[in-house]
Amino acid sequence: MIKINNICCIGAGYVGGPTMAVIADKCPNINVNVVDIDEERIKKWNDKNLKNLPIFEPGLAEIVDRCRDINLHFSISVEEKIYEADMVFISVNTPTKKKGLGAGKASDLRWVEESARQVAKFSSGHTIVVEKSTLPVRTAEVIQNILRSAEQDNHRRGISFDVLSNPEFLAEGTAIEDLEYPDRVLIGGDNINAMNALHSIYSRWVSKEKILFTNIWSSELAKLTANAFLAQRISSINSIAAMCEATGADVREVSRAIGTDSRIGSKFLDSGPGFGGSCFKKDILNLVYLAEYFGLNEVANFWQSVVNLNNWHQNRISKLVVKKLFGTVTGKKIVVLGFAFKANTNDTRESAAIQICKDLIDEGADIWIHDPKVSKLQIEKDLEMAPIEQLEEIKENKLLSKIGKWRFSKSLDIFDKAHAVLMLTEWKEYKNIDWIDISKKMMNPAWVFDARSITDPSKVESANLNLWRVGDGTSK
Ligand code: UDX
Ligand code: UDX
Repeated sequence: MIKINNICCIGAGYVGGPTMAVIADKCPNINVNVVDIDEERIKKWNDKNLKNLPIFEPGLAEIVDRCRDINLHFSISVEEKIYEADMVFISVNTPTKKKGLGAGKASDLRWVEESARQVAKFSSGHTIVVEKSTLPVRTAEVIQNILRSAEQDNHRRGISFDVLSNPEFLAEGTAIEDLEYPDRVLIGGDNINAMNALHSIYSRWVSKEKILFTNIWSSELAKLTANAFLAQRISSINSIAAMCEATGADVREVSRAIGTDSRIGSKFLDSGPGFGGSCFKKDILNLVYLAEYFGLNEVANFWQSVVNLNNWHQNRISKLVVKKLFGTVTGKKIVVLGFAFKANTNDTRESAAIQICKDLIDEGADIWIHDPKVSKLQIEKDLEMAPIEQLEEIKENKLLSKIGKWRFSKSLDIFDKAHAVLMLTEWKEYKNIDWIDISKKMMNPAWVFDARSITDPSKVESANLNLWRVGDGTSK
């Protein structure tokens, strides 16, 4: 039985950070080192003030507080920590390629390849390399090839490797809970000793029947498939939301009705502003790319349509806002509640809010954005535009009222003279908004656009506000 004493994880991101924190917490006798090339990020992981951790996840700060500098360490000492490790997790990002072969669809594997090269160069003895990043099928082959050449290198005598695939199924916002109580842990590989070594880590807190062994390619494909199926459900229900609005049905009632069918199940049937997050789109596009590569064009088209529907749905929401506000939003104040791609995270990657806000700014709107966890700087990066107070035209007093603009507010005292409120993230602080009070401050007539079904329609309507809710064909 291979005994694991030292783990190194390359990549201190939304996946690597929480996953390693939970492993350290559950396995006090294993020393866990999380390394990253991003010095700023590592500084934040080591910040004494736990509010400054680079990632917001409920329950994460408590674990970091318990384990940090005991058996959980964050550093930029990539080479040294690889050298010391018996097991190296690769958890670096794999964004969609921007140029070259497969641009716009295939994953850019340069960081994974670079990580494998670092392991090949700096490891000692036997090392089990674990793919944690979600990767296109057969990526393990790339890693294996790099490691095999190191094994055959005369200058690197005595080193050897095994490669496993161990995709992470955590969802942001519930990462700690998902890691502590996973539906399953998937371990793909071809060497039973290495697989057992990883099994022995998870089995400290996960029951044995939930730890599944597969071959390495099934494991890689299962992860892409899980994300594709989940995203497909959201596009399906969002397509039905548009049908509901057209026919007088209510998507919440339809979801409830179909969700009680045990074959369908009730989860992932909430219509919203369109799925976001770093994985769904990227993973489906990967599947599309792979299908095209293998000449399976119908398969590629099928999955591509899930992404197309999502894009269309986001665009439909911004168009609808313009239409309801008498065909123009130029110069109109619109309060946007929520910028994160879902509640309980500060992550904005692929958030529906990005495209919707950009569209409204293009139409000339004056957008006031609130989010409890996302920073102004992050929003600026996502919108690729400075907030109003930094615009040169404003400084020079030359701003034309026709120019679309945005600003950020930490407080919720932002409804004065607003023409509309657009709810894009389901943060709990938005659930108890006092609409009667707010309606007194807003313009008349004013609109509430609820893309997350978090308002109580009777309360909004009794405040004399017009309400649009996603998939609600019953409202006027
Ligand atoms: C990412 C992918 O999005 C996901 O598909 C995959 O499953 C795991 O990696 P995430 O953890 O959310 O998920 O990414 P991110 O928060 O960007 O973290 C990746 C980290 O890797 C970054 O901190 C980056 O600095 C680091 N990195 C990248 C390295 O340490 N070395 C590299 O060579 C490249
Ligand atoms: C997803 C997968 O759930 C997770 O297993 C995988 O490891 C990574 O990708 P994540 O992207 O963090 O996790 O969040 P998730 O909860 O899946 O939500 C993704 C998007 O779908 C969000 O924008 C969310 O708001 C949206 N969504 C989710 C809906 O619109 N309706 C739903 O019913 C569920």
